[in-house]
Amino acid sequence: MEKKYGFLEKIDREPSNLIKGLQAVQGVEGFVSDESIKAVSEYFGIPEVEIEGVLSFYAQFKRVKPGKYKVSLCDGTACHIKGSTLVHNWVCGELGIKDGETDKDGNFSLETVACLGCCSLAPVMSVNGRVYAKLDRKTTTKILKEYASK
Ligand code: FES
Repeated sequence: MEKKYGFLEKIDREPSNLIKGLQAVQGVEGFVSDESIKAVSEYFGIPEVEIEGVLSFYAQFKRVKPGKYKVSLCDGTACHIKGSTLVHNWVCGELGIKDGETDKDGNFSLETVACLGCCSLAPVMSVNGRVYAKLDRKTTTKILKEYASK
């Protein structure tokens, strides 16, 4: 097993701890890479194909490396009523990616979330946890362009 996955040794080497192991990997790397699957497979003695199956079953696991900027689009009830579908279309159009994807430069990744907890400011999105409120097309584009030029 690669030295960088040594943190797995803190988890008992029981096949039933597979999820814990994968969560640890994702906690450290931000996603579950092919390389880490190999390490997890060796450590727990579980075939890689079985691990792939588990990963595709649980939505919590990401198989794609997250971008430098994580864009979370709210599609909770309040934001939906206030036009989150439009915001979603603007962001996808601007970044050229869909929900769950990362752009080719590794700058942006995109996800849809249920509620960012500031419904009175709908529609909202967050970028690396910073919330942007009452979005219209112009503001949304401007925010993304600012991050892209950082
Ligand atoms: S529904 Fe969007 S912040 Fe709550």
